[in-house]
Amino acid sequence: MSTAKPRILTGDTPTHTGLHLGHYVGSLENRLKLQDQYDCYFLIANVHAFTTLAEKPAEVRANTIGIVKDWLAVGLDPQRSTFVLQSEIPAIAELTFLFAMLLPFNKVMRNPTLKTEIETKGLGESHSFGFPMYAVGQCADILTFRPELVPVGEDQEAHIEMCRDVALKFNQLYCGVGNRVVPEEHVKAGGLFPIPKAKVGRVARLVGLDGKNKMSKSLGNAIFLYDDAKTVQKKINKITTGRQSPTEPGDVSNILMQYVDAFIGGAGDEGYTRAEEIKRRYGAGDNIGDGHVKAELGEAINKLIEPMRVRRTELEGERGDAMVQEVIRIGVERANVVAEETLFLAKKAMGLEFGRRTVSLAG
Ligand code: TRP
Repeated sequence: MSTAKPRILTGDTPTHTGLHLGHYVGSLENRLKLQDQYDCYFLIANVHAFTTLAEKPAEVRANTIGIVKDWLAVGLDPQRSTFVLQSEIPAIAELTFLFAMLLPFNKVMRNPTLKTEIETKGLGESHSFGFPMYAVGQCADILTFRPELVPVGEDQEAHIEMCRDVALKFNQLYCGVGNRVVPEEHVKAGGLFPIPKAKVGRVARLVGLDGKNKMSKSLGNAIFLYDDAKTVQKKINKITTGRQSPTEPGDVSNILMQYVDAFIGGAGDEGYTRAEEIKRRYGAGDNIGDGHVKAELGEAINKLIEPMRVRRTELEGERGDAMVQEVIRIGVERANVVAEETLFLAKKAMGLEFGRRTVSLAG
């Protein structure tokens, strides 16, 4: 596929299912918008899922199919964008090995995202060799598609930094790019890899219904994209702010107001957006009750997620599975064209080219 649009790559690891509003404002919404301006690659990191689920392959498989259904339901479009199933892209595995030689072992082990994961998942000293390797693999996921941007949550920024290090080093070592060349100029200076940048979503951290922690499935403080309308409203009604009456000046940074900012769009009075107007009146205690705000929020959120819920339901069952199978097949086919080209160019730069091969799915 030749296209003049700049590329982006991002992805999810199928270690769990259950998308919630935090995922939406943190990354999915971003992806939806970027589909118009960029040549997008969305990767399902199913090999990485084995870093923690090696003993549960059926779960990885189910989650993989589930993620593709989630993406389709949310509105990612496999015609405009390429869905990449990591395990079917051999170039990614090969580049992982080659890139592993460009990263000091201790630097990988100091990667703060990895360290946090080892702590929060209680992996301690018992994690596999492959666990830290996945961070190197992520460099390959990204660079295989030579993107300019990588839309991710803030927790992934350390990985993108490592990926930039690898790309800089590769270009310097094997493509003759000088040490002084700034990252933006690497390709112009003969580098194979553009030095990619992270792009964090509109709301980097959406607070959960408890008003304290980041929204997360495991903390039980989430509104899921497939909650029905009643459940959504019920969850919102349970939010507590401690405010007593519609005329009490409210805290404009409390959880309700954060949600107003995140989910209520449109225009209000006198050139304000509706969200600004609500916040102004809330802060002033200008006769606006929590109950009113909650009703308006519930309506806005339901309007946003209703079409996703409907599409997700349509994808349940065998017909949906067959559709996913086809989306994966087409994505893999397209992704391998780009991936094989990158691998060939990388090997050539390293003096490793001894002929060209083709990769494609049989049948
Ligand atoms: N590690 C990412 C996560 O768990 C998923 C991922 C894998 C990814 N490869 C990637 C994200 C490449 C962006 C780019 O969320």
